[in-house]
Amino acid sequence: MSILLNSSAWKKTQRHYNDIHNLSLSAEFKLDSQRFNKFSLQFDDILYDFSKNIINDKTLPCLIDIAKQANLVEKRTAMFAGEMINTTERRAVLHTALRNRGETEIYFQKQNVMPAVLKMLAKMREFCQQIHSGTWKGYSNKKITDIVNIGIGGSDLGPKMVSTALKPYAIAGLNIHFVSNIDQANIVETLANLNPETTLFIVASKVFNTQETMTNANSAKRWFLQQAPDIAAIQQHFIAISTHTENVNNFGISEANMFEFWDWVGGRYSVWSAIGFSVALYVGMDNFEELLEGAYAADQHFCTAPLEKNIPVIMALLGIWYNNFFEAESHVILPYDHSLKFFADYFQQADMESNGKSVDRKGNPVDYHTGPIIWGQPGTNGQHAFYQLMHQGTKLIPCDFLAPAQSHYDLPEHHDILISNFLSQPEALMQGKTVEAVKQDLIGKDKYDNELVASKIFTGNKPSSSFLFKKLTPKTLGSIIAFYEHKIFTQGIIWDINSFDQMGVELGKVLAKVILPELKNDNIINSHDSSTNALINKYKQLR
Ligand code: F6P
Repeated sequence: MSILLNSSAWKKTQRHYNDIHNLSLSAEFKLDSQRFNKFSLQFDDILYDFSKNIINDKTLPCLIDIAKQANLVEKRTAMFAGEMINTTERRAVLHTALRNRGETEIYFQKQNVMPAVLKMLAKMREFCQQIHSGTWKGYSNKKITDIVNIGIGGSDLGPKMVSTALKPYAIAGLNIHFVSNIDQANIVETLANLNPETTLFIVASKVFNTQETMTNANSAKRWFLQQAPDIAAIQQHFIAISTHTENVNNFGISEANMFEFWDWVGGRYSVWSAIGFSVALYVGMDNFEELLEGAYAADQHFCTAPLEKNIPVIMALLGIWYNNFFEAESHVILPYDHSLKFFADYFQQADMESNGKSVDRKGNPVDYHTGPIIWGQPGTNGQHAFYQLMHQGTKLIPCDFLAPAQSHYDLPEHHDILISNFLSQPEALMQGKTVEAVKQDLIGKDKYDNELVASKIFTGNKPSSSFLFKKLTPKTLGSIIAFYEHKIFTQGIIWDINSFDQMGVELGKVLAKVILPELKNDNIINSHDSSTNALINKYKQLR
């Protein structure tokens, strides 16, 4: 048995689970008028309400003991101090240095990384200023009007999620587009509406040899050169963001047009680096720095708040509670803010690439569940799609609801309707509907039978947490993203896994490279299993 499952803290929590897993949330609220006060926290403009979770006064102390036994505090210090905690890739994990707004020096291999970080931010500011003011001109002397971010994974999802979330802050006259998919539909449809004279391509890739990104970037370059006067025009229309100068040069982008970042920034944590340049261009550098401020404030909270008042720690512990004790398989993220429409997608990568692991830090298979399946959609759209299963299906799905008290827009009616749904769904999930209440509703109606009654019963007692914040500002967004990041980190520490490598994405890439040359001719293929052979041969027949 693993050290984790054998630990006294784990066993105590297991006993506690056996005692309270049937606890009725509605009854607890009736019994304890202080329940909300006990189980909610305020951080700046953000209220975190976790009172609708299946917990009582003893639950958090049990879970906190698990975190302490896993040396969370020491490991948190190690991450912030630049220790090489990504042991398989022999890298530090220092995305927090990118948003370090304090005076603290941060060392990696005996070198303070802060001067390089500040230099990167200054270069981003200078480029933004040139592009916004129009001193940066396209080959025909026109101002840039369209930015195309070409990247995938963390080099796409971060910039896309954040710039979509901050659309109300967009600089007038600038449009942003994202190309990630190798499916040519993505780049063809994007380029169809663009003018090369006024388009700036940002090729974002940590390694700068990712197949999808380089294929899309080469197609963009070809499209551009079909219309540009000469190859030199590339320097006015292509910017690279990467850790790999040589690959950038080989592509044909000069070092002057390259923003560098470092190996100690993981792809899924890179939006804080120059990978966020398209965000900075779209909403302005001041707003990008506000985003960093928000994340920095959340970092400070994570590092200094006691564990029982620490928002990301509590998020993580509740996740462990449901994942490992209730055996919930997934976790749903439900922002009631249309501009957060890519928020769940973003955390799908951040969480599932980080904690989708099945060996511990010593290489032993784990004997407990690690990362959950993360999914979600903005409300209220999701309500008309998958909430049925959340309310009446057989699976336990812990939920996070998020909403702003103020909208950026001012149409009458909408916001209160949106928020009434944000408020009522967690209440409905918790309260459910009893057989008596169903029958009461049916009194006086036409004849009804048991099937109809049963179909209208909601068992309720479904757990959820809610974030209610004043407005989705860059600062608030930065804090919320950092909370989720630290939740992922905390869970990885408890599960004793390396949350910072992603070996699991490699095998599919390697096999795709084997198959690609096999598609170059019409020969019959029989080197794979019969299913893969048949699919390849059918493809060749149909193409
Ligand atoms: O394949 C997974 C991955 O390595 C992610 O971790 C990363 O965000 C993405 O690919 C893109 O990588 P890059 O920025 O190096 O192109």
